[in-house]
Amino acid sequence: MQFNLTETALEDIAADVAIGFVYEGDGDTIPGSPYWDTVTGGLFSEMVARGEFLGKYQSSATVHRPVGARAGRMLLAGCGPPEKASFARWRDCTGSAWRSVRSSGARSVAVLVPYGSDSEDGVRAVAEGILLADYQPDTHKTSDRAKSSLESVTIRAPGATQADLDRAVATAAAQNRARELVNEPGNLLPPKVLARRASELAGQAGLECEVLDVDRLRSLGMGALLGVARASAEDPVLIMIRYRPDGAEGGTHLGLVGKAVTFDTGGISIKPSADMHLMKHDMAGGAAMIGAMLAIAELRPNVRVTAVIPSVENMPGGAAQRPGDIVSTRSGTTVEVLNTDAEGRLILADALALAKEEGCTHLVDAATLTGAIVVALGMTYTGLFSNDEAWRDRVLKAAGAAGEKMWPMPLGEEYTKQLKSPVADLANIGPRWGGAVTAAAFLEHFAGNTPWVHLDIAGTAWYEKPLPHAPVGPSGVGVATFVELALGME
Ligand code: BES
Ligand code: ZN
Ligand code: ZN
Repeated sequence: MQFNLTETALEDIAADVAIGFVYEGDGDTIPGSPYWDTVTGGLFSEMVARGEFLGKYQSSATVHRPVGARAGRMLLAGCGPPEKASFARWRDCTGSAWRSVRSSGARSVAVLVPYGSDSEDGVRAVAEGILLADYQPDTHKTSDRAKSSLESVTIRAPGATQADLDRAVATAAAQNRARELVNEPGNLLPPKVLARRASELAGQAGLECEVLDVDRLRSLGMGALLGVARASAEDPVLIMIRYRPDGAEGGTHLGLVGKAVTFDTGGISIKPSADMHLMKHDMAGGAAMIGAMLAIAELRPNVRVTAVIPSVENMPGGAAQRPGDIVSTRSGTTVEVLNTDAEGRLILADALALAKEEGCTHLVDAATLTGAIVVALGMTYTGLFSNDEAWRDRVLKAAGAAGEKMWPMPLGEEYTKQLKSPVADLANIGPRWGGAVTAAAFLEHFAGNTPWVHLDIAGTAWYEKPLPHAPVGPSGVGVATFVELALGME
Protein backbone atom coordinates (compact mmCIF):
# COMPACT_ATOMS: atom_id res chain seq x y z
CA MET A 1 0.00 0.00 0.00
CA GLN A 2 1.24 3.42 -0.98
CA PHE A 3 0.99 6.52 1.25
CA ASN A 4 1.79 9.99 -0.15
CA LEU A 5 1.66 13.57 1.02
CA THR A 6 0.24 16.11 -1.38
CA GLU A 7 -0.05 19.87 -1.79
CA THR A 8 -3.14 19.50 -3.93
CA ALA A 9 -6.48 20.65 -2.50
CA LEU A 10 -8.82 17.81 -1.51
CA GLU A 11 -11.40 18.72 -4.14
CA ASP A 12 -8.77 18.54 -6.89
CA ILE A 13 -7.54 15.03 -6.13
CA ALA A 14 -8.85 12.32 -8.44
CA ALA A 15 -9.37 9.47 -5.98
CA ASP A 16 -12.09 6.86 -5.61
CA VAL A 17 -12.93 8.26 -2.18
CA ALA A 18 -12.12 11.63 -0.64
CA ILE A 19 -12.38 11.81 3.16
CA GLY A 20 -13.12 15.08 4.94
CA PHE A 21 -13.61 15.60 8.67
CA VAL A 22 -16.57 17.41 10.13
CA TYR A 23 -16.91 18.55 13.73
CA GLU A 24 -20.21 18.48 15.51
CA GLY A 25 -21.77 21.92 15.98
CA ASP A 26 -25.15 23.42 16.82
CA GLY A 27 -27.35 22.70 13.83
CA ASP A 28 -26.34 24.83 10.90
CA THR A 29 -23.34 26.27 12.69
CA ILE A 30 -21.26 23.16 11.92
CA PRO A 31 -17.73 24.48 11.39
CA GLY A 32 -16.61 24.38 7.77
CA SER A 33 -20.16 24.22 6.34
CA PRO A 34 -19.57 26.60 3.40
CA TYR A 35 -16.64 24.50 2.16
CA TRP A 36 -18.54 21.21 2.40
CA ASP A 37 -21.52 22.80 0.67
CA THR A 38 -19.33 23.91 -2.22
CA VAL A 39 -17.88 20.45 -2.56
CA THR A 40 -21.21 18.63 -2.29
CA GLY A 41 -23.31 21.17 -4.18
CA GLY A 42 -25.37 22.02 -1.10
CA LEU A 43 -26.09 18.43 -0.09
CA PHE A 44 -24.09 18.88 3.08
CA SER A 45 -26.50 21.49 4.51
CA GLU A 46 -29.47 19.40 3.45
CA MET A 47 -28.12 16.39 5.32
CA VAL A 48 -27.51 18.50 8.41
CA ALA A 49 -30.99 20.02 8.24
CA ARG A 50 -32.55 16.56 8.01
CA GLY A 51 -30.43 15.33 10.90
CA GLU A 52 -28.91 12.72 8.59
CA PHE A 53 -25.36 13.73 9.41
CA LEU A 54 -24.40 15.98 12.31
CA GLY A 55 -20.68 15.36 12.62
CA LYS A 56 -21.18 13.08 15.62
CA TYR A 57 -18.08 11.19 16.70
CA GLN A 58 -17.48 8.13 14.52
CA SER A 59 -20.57 8.72 12.39
CA SER A 60 -20.05 9.09 8.65
CA ALA A 61 -21.95 9.94 5.49
CA THR A 62 -21.19 9.37 1.83
CA VAL A 63 -21.98 11.76 -1.00
CA HIS A 64 -21.65 10.13 -4.41
CA ARG A 65 -20.25 12.07 -7.35
CA PRO A 66 -19.80 15.33 -5.41
CA VAL A 67 -20.20 18.15 -7.91
CA GLY A 68 -17.38 20.25 -6.51
CA ALA A 69 -14.73 17.54 -6.23
CA ARG A 70 -12.90 15.20 -8.59
CA ALA A 71 -13.27 12.19 -6.30
CA GLY A 72 -15.91 9.58 -7.06
CA ARG A 73 -17.26 9.74 -3.53
CA MET A 74 -16.96 12.18 -0.67
CA LEU A 75 -16.88 10.50 2.70
CA LEU A 76 -17.63 12.83 5.60
CA ALA A 77 -16.13 11.62 8.86
CA GLY A 78 -17.77 12.87 12.06
CA CYS A 79 -15.28 14.11 14.65
CA GLY A 80 -17.63 15.03 17.50
CA PRO A 81 -17.32 18.33 19.37
CA PRO A 82 -14.13 20.27 18.54
CA GLU A 83 -13.30 20.78 22.23
CA LYS A 84 -12.94 17.02 22.67
CA ALA A 85 -10.61 16.62 19.68
CA SER A 86 -7.44 14.61 20.26
CA PHE A 87 -4.97 12.54 18.31
CA ALA A 88 -6.70 9.30 19.38
CA ARG A 89 -10.15 10.59 18.42
CA TRP A 90 -8.96 11.79 15.00
CA ARG A 91 -7.33 8.40 14.47
CA ASP A 92 -10.46 6.49 15.44
CA CYS A 93 -12.88 8.65 13.45
CA THR A 94 -10.66 8.19 10.39
CA GLY A 95 -10.77 4.47 11.09
CA SER A 96 -14.53 4.27 11.47
CA ALA A 97 -15.03 6.25 8.25
CA TRP A 98 -12.66 3.90 6.42
CA ARG A 99 -14.41 0.80 7.80
CA SER A 100 -17.74 2.12 6.52
CA VAL A 101 -16.42 1.91 2.92
CA ARG A 102 -13.64 -0.65 3.36
CA SER A 103 -15.31 -3.38 1.33
CA SER A 104 -16.79 -1.15 -1.37
CA GLY A 105 -14.06 -1.52 -3.96
CA ALA A 106 -12.31 1.80 -3.34
CA ARG A 107 -8.67 1.58 -4.36
CA SER A 108 -7.47 5.13 -3.94
CA VAL A 109 -8.27 7.44 -1.03
CA ALA A 110 -7.54 11.11 -0.57
CA VAL A 111 -7.74 12.70 2.86
CA LEU A 112 -7.58 16.24 4.18
CA VAL A 113 -6.36 16.17 7.79
CA PRO A 114 -8.88 17.44 10.36
CA TYR A 115 -9.08 21.15 10.95
CA GLY A 116 -7.08 22.06 14.05
CA SER A 117 -4.93 18.91 14.07
CA ASP A 118 -1.41 20.19 14.04
CA SER A 119 0.18 18.91 10.89
CA GLU A 120 2.14 16.10 12.56
CA ASP A 121 -0.76 14.78 14.64
CA GLY A 122 -3.11 15.04 11.68
CA VAL A 123 -1.02 12.99 9.30
CA ARG A 124 -0.29 10.40 11.98
CA ALA A 125 -3.96 10.12 12.93
CA VAL A 126 -5.03 9.67 9.33
CA ALA A 127 -2.34 7.19 8.27
CA GLU A 128 -2.60 5.13 11.47
CA GLY A 129 -6.40 5.35 11.46
CA ILE A 130 -6.68 3.94 7.95
CA LEU A 131 -4.06 1.23 8.33
CA LEU A 132 -5.37 0.03 11.68
CA ALA A 133 -8.98 0.04 10.46
CA ASP A 134 -8.01 -1.91 7.37
CA TYR A 135 -6.94 -4.90 9.51
CA GLN A 136 -9.16 -8.00 9.34
CA PRO A 137 -8.71 -11.14 11.47
CA ASP A 138 -9.82 -13.46 8.66
CA THR A 139 -6.48 -14.74 7.31
CA HIS A 140 -7.64 -18.35 7.73
CA LYS A 141 -10.91 -18.00 5.86
CA THR A 142 -10.89 -19.62 2.43
CA SER A 143 -14.06 -17.82 1.35
CA ASP A 144 -16.08 -14.74 2.36
CA ARG A 145 -13.01 -12.75 3.28
CA ALA A 146 -13.87 -9.10 3.88
CA LYS A 147 -11.34 -7.96 1.32
CA SER A 148 -9.97 -4.47 1.25
CA SER A 149 -9.09 -3.07 -2.12
CA LEU A 150 -7.02 -0.22 -0.71
CA GLU A 151 -3.95 0.57 -2.82
CA SER A 152 -3.09 4.19 -2.24
CA VAL A 153 -3.72 6.92 0.30
CA THR A 154 -2.94 10.54 -0.52
CA ILE A 155 -2.92 12.88 2.45
CA ARG A 156 -3.12 16.64 2.39
CA ALA A 157 -1.49 17.81 5.61
CA PRO A 158 -0.02 21.28 5.19
CA GLY A 159 3.23 21.46 7.13
CA ALA A 160 3.60 17.73 7.81
CA THR A 161 6.84 16.05 6.79
CA GLN A 162 7.58 12.79 5.06
CA ALA A 163 9.20 11.68 8.34
CA ASP A 164 5.88 12.15 10.19
CA LEU A 165 4.14 10.02 7.59
CA ASP A 166 6.86 7.34 7.56
CA ARG A 167 6.67 7.06 11.30
CA ALA A 168 2.89 6.66 11.30
CA VAL A 169 2.99 4.01 8.59
CA ALA A 170 5.81 2.07 10.28
CA THR A 171 4.03 2.16 13.65
CA ALA A 172 0.61 1.11 12.40
CA ALA A 173 2.03 -1.59 10.12
CA ALA A 174 3.98 -2.98 13.10
CA GLN A 175 0.84 -2.87 15.23
CA ASN A 176 -0.99 -4.88 12.57
CA ARG A 177 1.89 -7.37 12.48
CA ALA A 178 1.42 -7.85 16.22
CA ARG A 179 -2.32 -8.32 15.70
CA GLU A 180 -1.69 -10.99 13.08
CA LEU A 181 0.47 -12.93 15.53
CA VAL A 182 -2.06 -12.57 18.36
CA ASN A 183 -4.85 -13.80 16.15
CA GLU A 184 -3.05 -17.06 15.32
CA PRO A 185 -4.53 -19.97 17.28
CA GLY A 186 -2.59 -22.16 19.69
CA ASN A 187 -2.19 -25.05 17.24
CA LEU A 188 -0.66 -22.87 14.54
CA LEU A 189 1.54 -20.73 16.74
CA PRO A 190 3.19 -22.73 19.55
CA PRO A 191 6.31 -21.20 21.13
CA LYS A 192 8.77 -22.52 18.54
CA VAL A 193 6.69 -21.24 15.65
CA LEU A 194 6.36 -17.86 17.34
CA ALA A 195 10.15 -17.86 17.64
CA ARG A 196 10.55 -18.73 13.97
CA ARG A 197 8.15 -15.98 12.93
CA ALA A 198 9.95 -13.51 15.21
CA SER A 199 13.33 -14.49 13.71
CA GLU A 200 12.05 -14.10 10.17
CA LEU A 201 10.50 -10.71 10.87
CA ALA A 202 13.55 -9.54 12.81
CA GLY A 203 15.86 -10.74 10.03
CA GLN A 204 13.90 -8.80 7.40
CA ALA A 205 14.10 -5.72 9.60
CA GLY A 206 17.86 -6.08 10.11
CA LEU A 207 17.56 -6.96 13.81
CA GLU A 208 19.49 -9.59 15.75
CA CYS A 209 17.27 -12.37 17.04
CA GLU A 210 18.43 -15.10 19.40
CA VAL A 211 16.17 -17.97 20.41
CA LEU A 212 17.07 -19.75 23.64
CA ASP A 213 15.88 -23.35 23.46
CA VAL A 214 14.80 -25.60 26.30
CA ASP A 215 18.33 -26.91 26.99
CA ARG A 216 19.63 -23.38 27.22
CA LEU A 217 16.78 -22.38 29.54
CA ARG A 218 17.67 -25.36 31.76
CA SER A 219 21.32 -24.42 31.87
CA LEU A 220 20.33 -20.86 32.77
CA GLY A 221 18.26 -22.16 35.68
CA MET A 222 14.97 -20.70 34.55
CA GLY A 223 12.91 -22.95 36.79
CA ALA A 224 9.81 -20.76 36.92
CA LEU A 225 9.46 -20.66 33.14
CA LEU A 226 10.26 -24.37 32.77
CA GLY A 227 7.73 -25.32 35.43
CA VAL A 228 4.91 -23.72 33.44
CA ALA A 229 5.98 -25.49 30.23
CA ARG A 230 6.31 -28.97 31.78
CA ALA A 231 3.11 -30.61 30.56
CA SER A 232 3.08 -29.19 27.08
CA ALA A 233 4.17 -31.23 24.07
CA GLU A 234 5.46 -27.90 22.76
CA ASP A 235 8.91 -26.87 23.96
CA PRO A 236 9.26 -23.46 25.59
CA VAL A 237 11.57 -20.80 24.16
CA LEU A 238 12.84 -17.40 25.12
CA ILE A 239 13.14 -14.95 22.26
CA MET A 240 15.65 -12.10 22.43
CA ILE A 241 15.57 -9.37 19.80
CA ARG A 242 18.33 -6.77 19.92
CA TYR A 243 18.46 -3.32 18.40
CA ARG A 244 21.88 -1.69 18.78
CA PRO A 245 22.39 1.58 16.94
CA ASP A 246 26.01 2.67 16.42
CA GLY A 247 27.22 4.94 19.15
CA ALA A 248 24.52 4.12 21.69
CA GLU A 249 26.76 1.93 23.86
CA GLY A 250 26.86 2.50 27.56
CA GLY A 251 23.86 4.81 28.03
CA THR A 252 20.21 4.06 28.43
CA HIS A 253 19.10 0.60 27.40
CA LEU A 254 15.39 -0.08 27.10
CA GLY A 255 14.20 -3.60 27.89
CA LEU A 256 10.82 -4.67 26.49
CA VAL A 257 9.61 -7.83 28.22
CA GLY A 258 6.45 -9.47 26.85
CA LYS A 259 4.41 -12.41 28.12
CA ALA A 260 3.91 -14.93 25.32
CA VAL A 261 1.81 -17.84 26.59
CA THR A 262 0.71 -19.25 23.25
CA PHE A 263 -2.22 -20.95 24.95
CA ASP A 264 -3.27 -20.75 28.59
CA THR A 265 -5.52 -23.60 29.75
CA GLY A 266 -4.69 -22.74 33.36
CA GLY A 267 -2.78 -26.01 33.77
CA ILE A 268 -3.89 -28.20 36.69
CA SER A 269 -5.75 -25.17 38.10
CA ILE A 270 -7.69 -25.47 34.87
CA LYS A 271 -9.87 -22.68 33.53
CA PRO A 272 -13.61 -23.10 32.90
CA SER A 273 -14.29 -24.07 29.28
CA ALA A 274 -16.47 -21.05 28.45
CA ASP A 275 -14.44 -18.65 26.33
CA MET A 276 -11.26 -20.62 26.89
CA HIS A 277 -10.52 -20.30 23.17
CA LEU A 278 -9.73 -16.64 23.80
CA MET A 279 -6.64 -17.72 25.72
CA LYS A 280 -4.85 -17.95 22.39
CA HIS A 281 -4.27 -14.24 22.88
CA ASP A 282 -2.26 -14.78 26.05
CA MET A 283 0.83 -13.97 23.99
CA ALA A 284 -0.31 -10.43 23.14
CA GLY A 285 2.39 -8.85 25.34
CA GLY A 286 5.13 -10.73 23.50
CA ALA A 287 3.58 -9.95 20.12
CA ALA A 288 3.47 -6.24 21.01
CA MET A 289 7.20 -6.33 21.74
CA ILE A 290 7.94 -8.05 18.41
CA GLY A 291 5.83 -5.44 16.60
CA ALA A 292 7.48 -2.55 18.44
CA MET A 293 10.97 -3.86 17.57
CA LEU A 294 10.06 -3.92 13.86
CA ALA A 295 9.02 -0.26 13.89
CA ILE A 296 12.03 0.67 16.03
CA ALA A 297 14.34 -1.00 13.48
CA GLU A 298 12.78 1.11 10.76
CA LEU A 299 12.69 4.41 12.63
CA ARG A 300 16.15 4.00 14.17
CA PRO A 301 16.09 5.92 17.47
CA ASN A 302 19.53 6.39 19.00
CA VAL A 303 18.98 4.14 22.01
CA ARG A 304 19.59 0.46 22.66
CA VAL A 305 16.46 -1.65 22.86
CA THR A 306 16.22 -5.34 23.69
CA ALA A 307 13.03 -7.37 23.64
CA VAL A 308 12.89 -10.39 25.95
CA ILE A 309 9.95 -12.67 25.19
CA PRO A 310 9.42 -15.84 27.22
CA SER A 311 7.07 -18.18 25.40
CA VAL A 312 5.35 -21.31 26.73
CA GLU A 313 2.13 -23.24 26.47
CA ASN A 314 0.34 -23.79 29.79
CA MET A 315 -1.20 -27.28 29.80
CA PRO A 316 -2.51 -29.83 32.31
CA GLY A 317 -1.25 -33.42 32.08
CA GLY A 318 0.72 -36.14 33.76
CA ALA A 319 3.91 -34.13 33.69
CA ALA A 320 2.26 -30.88 34.74
CA GLN A 321 3.36 -28.63 37.53
CA ARG A 322 1.15 -29.16 40.59
CA PRO A 323 -0.31 -26.64 43.00
CA GLY A 324 2.15 -26.56 45.89
CA ASP A 325 5.22 -27.21 43.75
CA ILE A 326 8.24 -25.08 44.56
CA VAL A 327 10.36 -23.75 41.70
CA SER A 328 13.68 -21.89 41.65
CA THR A 329 13.91 -18.81 39.48
CA ARG A 330 16.90 -17.54 37.51
CA SER A 331 17.47 -14.89 40.17
CA GLY A 332 17.59 -17.52 42.93
CA THR A 333 14.25 -16.62 44.54
CA THR A 334 12.11 -19.69 45.21
CA VAL A 335 8.39 -19.63 44.47
CA GLU A 336 5.55 -21.76 45.77
CA VAL A 337 3.12 -22.27 42.88
CA LEU A 338 -0.25 -22.14 44.61
CA ASN A 339 -2.17 -21.72 41.38
CA THR A 340 -0.86 -22.98 38.05
CA ASP A 341 -3.09 -20.49 36.21
CA ALA A 342 -1.00 -17.62 37.58
CA GLU A 343 1.68 -18.63 35.06
CA GLY A 344 2.38 -15.30 33.38
CA ARG A 345 4.16 -13.88 36.40
CA LEU A 346 6.28 -17.05 36.63
CA ILE A 347 7.66 -16.81 33.11
CA LEU A 348 8.07 -13.03 33.47
CA ALA A 349 10.04 -13.46 36.69
CA ASP A 350 12.76 -15.30 34.78
CA ALA A 351 12.52 -12.97 31.78
CA LEU A 352 12.89 -9.83 33.91
CA ALA A 353 15.99 -11.33 35.52
CA LEU A 354 17.47 -12.01 32.10
CA ALA A 355 16.64 -8.51 30.83
CA LYS A 356 18.57 -7.07 33.77
CA GLU A 357 21.51 -9.36 33.04
CA GLU A 358 21.46 -8.09 29.46
CA GLY A 359 22.15 -4.63 30.87
CA CYS A 360 18.74 -3.06 30.41
CA THR A 361 18.57 0.13 32.46
CA HIS A 362 14.83 0.72 32.02
CA LEU A 363 12.21 -2.02 31.81
CA VAL A 364 8.68 -2.16 30.49
CA ASP A 365 6.70 -5.39 30.53
CA ALA A 366 3.38 -6.05 28.87
CA ALA A 367 1.25 -9.02 29.83
CA THR A 368 -2.31 -10.29 29.64
CA LEU A 369 -1.75 -11.00 33.31
CA THR A 370 -4.96 -10.93 35.33
CA GLY A 371 -8.72 -11.10 35.04
CA ALA A 372 -8.67 -8.76 38.05
CA ILE A 373 -7.43 -5.83 35.95
CA VAL A 374 -10.48 -6.32 33.73
CA VAL A 375 -12.68 -6.13 36.83
CA ALA A 376 -10.88 -2.94 37.89
CA LEU A 377 -10.62 -1.04 34.61
CA GLY A 378 -12.83 -2.83 32.11
CA MET A 379 -11.66 -2.97 28.55
CA THR A 380 -10.80 0.68 28.10
CA TYR A 381 -7.64 1.37 30.09
CA THR A 382 -4.48 -0.67 30.44
CA GLY A 383 -3.37 -0.89 34.08
CA LEU A 384 0.07 0.59 34.69
CA PHE A 385 2.24 -0.28 37.70
CA SER A 386 5.73 1.00 38.44
CA ASN A 387 8.52 1.09 41.02
CA ASP A 388 9.82 4.47 39.78
CA GLU A 389 7.84 7.69 39.52
CA ALA A 390 9.92 9.35 36.82
CA TRP A 391 9.88 6.25 34.62
CA ARG A 392 6.15 5.80 35.18
CA ASP A 393 5.55 9.39 34.05
CA ARG A 394 7.64 8.89 30.91
CA VAL A 395 5.70 5.81 29.92
CA LEU A 396 2.38 7.52 30.66
CA LYS A 397 3.45 10.47 28.54
CA ALA A 398 4.45 8.19 25.67
CA ALA A 399 1.08 6.40 25.93
CA GLY A 400 -0.72 9.76 25.82
CA ALA A 401 1.19 10.83 22.72
CA ALA A 402 0.56 7.45 21.09
CA GLY A 403 -3.18 7.67 21.81
CA GLU A 404 -3.26 4.61 24.11
CA LYS A 405 -5.21 4.80 27.36
CA MET A 406 -3.27 3.70 30.47
CA TRP A 407 -4.10 4.29 34.11
CA PRO A 408 -1.65 4.33 37.05
CA MET A 409 -2.32 1.66 39.67
CA PRO A 410 -0.75 1.32 43.13
CA LEU A 411 1.91 -0.93 44.62
CA GLY A 412 3.11 -1.09 48.23
CA GLU A 413 4.17 -3.31 51.09
CA GLU A 414 0.56 -4.02 52.05
CA TYR A 415 0.33 -5.94 48.78
CA THR A 416 3.85 -7.34 48.79
CA LYS A 417 3.37 -9.02 52.14
CA GLN A 418 0.30 -10.81 50.82
CA LEU A 419 2.67 -12.91 48.71
CA LYS A 420 4.39 -14.50 51.69
CA SER A 421 4.72 -18.26 51.64
CA PRO A 422 5.52 -20.46 54.66
CA VAL A 423 7.65 -22.76 52.52
CA ALA A 424 9.32 -20.60 49.82
CA ASP A 425 10.48 -17.01 49.33
CA LEU A 426 7.27 -16.04 47.57
CA ALA A 427 3.86 -17.50 46.70
CA ASN A 428 2.67 -16.94 43.14
CA ILE A 429 -0.77 -15.67 44.20
CA GLY A 430 -2.20 -13.48 46.93
CA PRO A 431 -5.71 -13.41 48.37
CA ARG A 432 -8.77 -12.98 46.17
CA TRP A 433 -9.09 -9.18 46.20
CA GLY A 434 -6.68 -6.85 44.46
CA GLY A 435 -5.40 -9.63 42.22
CA ALA A 436 -3.97 -7.29 39.57
CA VAL A 437 -1.94 -5.50 42.23
CA THR A 438 -0.54 -8.60 43.91
CA ALA A 439 0.41 -9.92 40.45
CA ALA A 440 2.29 -6.67 39.81
CA ALA A 441 3.85 -6.83 43.29
CA PHE A 442 5.16 -10.30 42.43
CA LEU A 443 6.85 -8.92 39.29
CA GLU A 444 8.20 -5.94 41.24
CA HIS A 445 10.33 -8.33 43.26
CA PHE A 446 12.13 -9.43 40.10
CA ALA A 447 12.49 -5.93 38.65
CA GLY A 448 14.37 -5.05 41.85
CA ASN A 449 15.93 -1.58 41.74
CA THR A 450 15.79 -1.18 37.97
CA PRO A 451 13.17 1.39 36.87
CA TRP A 452 10.30 -0.76 35.65
CA VAL A 453 6.76 -0.38 34.38
CA HIS A 454 4.31 -3.27 34.19
CA LEU A 455 1.35 -3.01 31.85
CA ASP A 456 -1.53 -5.38 32.50
CA ILE A 457 -3.22 -5.59 29.10
CA ALA A 458 -5.67 -8.42 29.92
CA GLY A 459 -8.61 -6.07 29.26
CA THR A 460 -7.20 -4.16 26.31
CA ALA A 461 -5.44 -6.71 24.08
CA TRP A 462 -8.60 -8.15 22.56
CA TYR A 463 -11.77 -6.45 21.29
CA GLU A 464 -14.67 -8.66 22.34
CA LYS A 465 -17.15 -6.63 20.32
CA PRO A 466 -16.66 -4.89 17.02
CA LEU A 467 -15.88 -1.18 17.29
CA PRO A 468 -16.60 1.39 14.60
CA HIS A 469 -12.87 1.43 13.80
CA ALA A 470 -11.90 -2.19 14.54
CA PRO A 471 -13.27 -5.70 14.13
CA VAL A 472 -13.56 -8.25 16.95
CA GLY A 473 -10.08 -9.56 17.68
CA PRO A 474 -6.62 -8.36 18.64
CA SER A 475 -6.04 -4.67 19.26
CA GLY A 476 -2.26 -4.52 19.03
CA VAL A 477 -2.19 -2.50 22.24
CA GLY A 478 1.22 -1.31 23.41
CA VAL A 479 3.07 -1.19 20.09
CA ALA A 480 2.45 2.53 19.49
CA THR A 481 3.45 3.43 23.06
CA PHE A 482 6.69 1.43 22.96
CA VAL A 483 7.69 3.00 19.64
CA GLU A 484 6.94 6.49 20.98
CA LEU A 485 8.87 5.69 24.14
CA ALA A 486 11.97 4.49 22.28
CA LEU A 487 11.90 7.51 19.97
CA GLY A 488 11.71 9.79 23.00
CA MET A 489 14.68 8.15 24.74
CA GLU A 490 17.40 8.90 22.21
N1 BES B 1 -4.01 -15.20 31.06
C1 BES B 1 -4.71 -15.06 32.27
C2 BES B 1 -5.32 -13.68 32.50
C3 BES B 1 -6.34 -13.18 31.50
C4 BES B 1 -7.67 -13.14 31.85
C5 BES B 1 -5.96 -12.68 30.28
C6 BES B 1 -8.60 -12.63 30.97
C7 BES B 1 -6.89 -12.17 29.39
C8 BES B 1 -8.21 -12.14 29.74
C9 BES B 1 -3.77 -15.33 33.45
O1 BES B 1 -2.74 -16.23 33.21
C10 BES B 1 -4.59 -15.89 34.56
O2 BES B 1 -5.17 -16.91 34.36
N2 BES B 1 -4.64 -15.21 35.70
C11 BES B 1 -5.42 -15.63 36.79
C12 BES B 1 -4.64 -15.35 38.06
C13 BES B 1 -5.25 -15.94 39.30
C14 BES B 1 -5.14 -17.44 39.26
C15 BES B 1 -4.54 -15.38 40.50
C16 BES B 1 -6.73 -14.86 36.81
O3 BES B 1 -6.72 -13.68 36.48
O4 BES B 1 -7.75 -15.45 37.10
ZN1 ZN C 1 -3.31 -18.25 33.52
ZN1 ZN D 1 -2.11 -16.38 31.20
